Amino acid sequence: MRSLVLAVVLLVGFSFGSTVLANSGPVEVRFEATPGDVTYTHAAHTRFGAKCQSCHHNGVLSGTCHRCHDGKQAPHFKVAAHKVCKECHQKKGGPVNCKGCHLR
Ligand code: HEC
Ligand code: HEC
Ligand code: HEC
Ligand code: HEC
Repeated sequence: MRSLVLAVVLLVGFSFGSTVLANSGPVEVRFEATPGDVTYTHAAHTRFGAKCQSCHHNGVLSGTCHRCHDGKQAPHFKVAAHKVCKECHQKKGGPVNCKGCHLR
């Protein structure tokens, strides 16, 4: 029961959180994926010290990752995401198992 209440509180928080704050990016981003959707807490992640350009390598105003990462113009986003996300998780102790990111 406690975890259900927490889940509801988090959902409400996240629906407010999805608003883009100025130019610092969304608070969180949810990516749909067949093994389970991935929630990336954008605002919270900035404290891990990644430079904006390490992910937004064409600049923060270049659009969503999927805009280019479609498997033709640029490697499919699955490949790019696994690389940029897992490399830091291996170094700094974030989730590296599939289920750590792909939640149902
Ligand atoms: C670890 C990777 C990562 C870092 C570091 C990062 N971002 Fe992001 N950012 C993302 C992802 C992923 C998205 C979602 C893009 C999408 O929807 O495909 C995003 C989205 C955004 C967007 C919305 C872009 C759009 O067109 O929808 C802005 C603005 C943004 N980030 C700004 C920043 C700024 C400013 C910094 C540095 C303080 C930063 N980001 C650092 C991964 C990152
Ligand atoms: C304007 C187009 C464009 C956008 C937007 C874009 N990328 Fe890329 N990305 C590319 C291209 C083209 C490549 C391949 C050439 C290169 O490495 O620059 C690439 C390569 C990469 C690689 C290296 C992949 C590998 O296999 O070595 C990563 C990681 C990456 N992008 C992550 C991201 C993330 C995360 C986002 C969203 C925050 C993003 N990119 C947005 C065009 C884009
Ligand atoms: C610069 C390092 C770094 C990068 C890049 C990074 N992460 Fe993380 N991430 C972490 C660390 C460190 C944690 C552990 C957080 C904790 O224990 O408080 C974490 C935790 C997480 C979690 C667990 C839940 C949470 O939010 O705390 C998820 C899910 C996650 N990251 C997804 C991603 C995704 C998806 C990407 C790529 C778009 C990504 N991360 C890129 C450092 C990073
Ligand atoms: C650090 C977080 C993270 C970890 C760990 C991770 N993934 Fe992912 N995965 C992602 C992200 C982010 C995407 C991009 C989703 C998108 O395309 O919007 C993705 C995409 C995928 C996709 C493509 C889904 C689709 O619908 O196109 C598959 C399949 C996948 N991952 C499988 C796995 C498997 C299997 C593992 C374990 C070996 C794993 N992932 C571990 C974050 C992660």
